[in-house]
Amino acid sequence: MNKVLVLHGPNLNLLGTRQPEVYGHQTLEDINNALYQEAALGGWEIACRQSNHEGELIDLIQAARLDGTAAIIINPAAYTHTSVAILDALNAFDGTVIEVHLSNVHRREPFRHHSYVSLRADGVIAGLGSQGYRAALDAVMAG
Ligand code: DQA
Repeated sequence: MNKVLVLHGPNLNLLGTRQPEVYGHQTLEDINNALYQEAALGGWEIACRQSNHEGELIDLIQAARLDGTAAIIINPAAYTHTSVAILDALNAFDGTVIEVHLSNVHRREPFRHHSYVSLRADGVIAGLGSQGYRAALDAVMAG
């Protein structure tokens, strides 16, 4: 069965209560539940993970190289703008990579305009809120 990994970076565990005017009212559980349902309908296996720790995100990306994961959908959150290490880990992953941001990072502070992960991403979605994850999963499943 085709397998997709959804990775959520730091502070995204607070979704629903964290700056809802920027990130929306849905919790991470709401988002993941919708993704689990959509993946099941499409016949895909899905794992959704969140971590506040850069090294743990890297470990999860490295594990995905070895377990047959076909695609990674990643919202690296603040690590988007800082992490060469996450970029390096994604560069060592052969499958599809889609970068997702809930907010339109390009309409925000200048430090959010640069993404290391975009140097590797096959697609980037920003500003669609939680629908961005659904769009990314649709794209992955459509191949
Ligand atoms: C974010 C945007 C980042 O700049 C920010 O640090 C986040 C969330 C988003 O989903 O809009 O934590 O990735």
